[in-house]
Amino acid sequence: MKLFDVYPLNNIAITKASGSYVWDENGTRYLDMYGGHAVISIGHTHPRWVARIEEQLEKIAFYSNSVIIPIQKELAEKLGKLSGKENYQLFLCNSGAEANENALKLASFYNGRKKIIAFNKSFHGRTSLAVAVTDNPSIVAPVNETDNVVFLPLNDAEALVEYFSAHGKEISSVIIEGIQGVGGINLAKDSFLQLIRQLCDESGAVYIADSVQCGYGRSGEFFSHDHAGVNADIYTMAKGMGNGFPVAGILIAPHIQPKHGMLGTTFGGNQLACAAALSVLEVIADEQLIANAKEMGQYLLDSLRNMDDLQSVRGRGLMIGFDVPAELKDLKKKLLFDYKIFTGEAKPNVIRLLPSLAITREHADEFLNALQEAIHELKTKNTVPVSA
Ligand SMILES: Cc1ncc(COP(=O)(O)O)c(C=O)c1O
Repeated sequence: MKLFDVYPLNNIAITKASGSYVWDENGTRYLDMYGGHAVISIGHTHPRWVARIEEQLEKIAFYSNSVIIPIQKELAEKLGKLSGKENYQLFLCNSGAEANENALKLASFYNGRKKIIAFNKSFHGRTSLAVAVTDNPSIVAPVNETDNVVFLPLNDAEALVEYFSAHGKEISSVIIEGIQGVGGINLAKDSFLQLIRQLCDESGAVYIADSVQCGYGRSGEFFSHDHAGVNADIYTMAKGMGNGFPVAGILIAPHIQPKHGMLGTTFGGNQLACAAALSVLEVIADEQLIANAKEMGQYLLDSLRNMDDLQSVRGRGLMIGFDVPAELKDLKKKLLFDYKIFTGEAKPNVIRLLPSLAITREHADEFLNALQEAIHELKTKNTVPVSA
């Protein structure tokens, strides 16, 4: 049987990982500035994470949500403390799309409304509602099309106020990434998030903070929306939550009350996933990784801004992007194949950095030095080939 061929692949097989490095099947080491797409939060195969999962595996990996699962409560408690949202409620699921799907659905259950505001260049996942609020028609199947979603320009306060004035009482929710990831590292302005909070309060709409990529400490705060000093009604979380173990969830403000049967999932919140997620929170707290993300992120941002050839260096914490001019269009490939460094990208010409929150100054310098050399080689058309 063949694999369903939906991913454009780099011809590399990664077979081992530790901290901020991964190794291919030939033993070649790569610096991971991509974090497997913002997933690796505490570092690959962190010993505490491995031990927690192994210990849990010996006891029980899964039993359904038809019984009390004490480790879910332990996770909720720890998550409340670390995120500062102790009075919120936790619903556990399995992926970012599922988290957003549940958030949008819950908002509609809550206020009985149908309209959703999303923003240009947003990405919220590939399931039916999540993809409907994603601004990329090429991944929206005809069956996902709906008139319930409107896309407004990001950070356009006037357009937002105008839409709320005209349709305020029909709007169920506003869904927004604090920092757009797939869209190319675009920051929602603090004042824009504050305006969303105010308009949602005035109209009874639900503010959904998609924190699947920009959350879990990556921005230098637990949620990137925290930089704006606002509380969302629902936060969605996934990528960094399990450090590679599939686990996701939504944090729900206390005024949104549950009803039996309202949401549900078979695998969500299983014991093994909770053990992985707990170890991630323990390591984030013990190793002060949110402070590290802030510090290392600022160091990378400052250093990148000093490089003349990079355009629009932007980001917060360890969620960083910059535009690459046409003469450096092969930069990402060169970094990967000649310098053995993984980075992320966004179309058409953005390089994204999403490393582990445990990245050190040495890792950052290793990347910055390689970047400088790679740029120099591409500019001087040095004969060193991009050996893709
Ligand atoms: C902001 C955001 N939301 C949702 C998703 C979807 O997450 P998943 O692929 O786990 O369904 C992603 C994935 O890249 C994302 O970046």
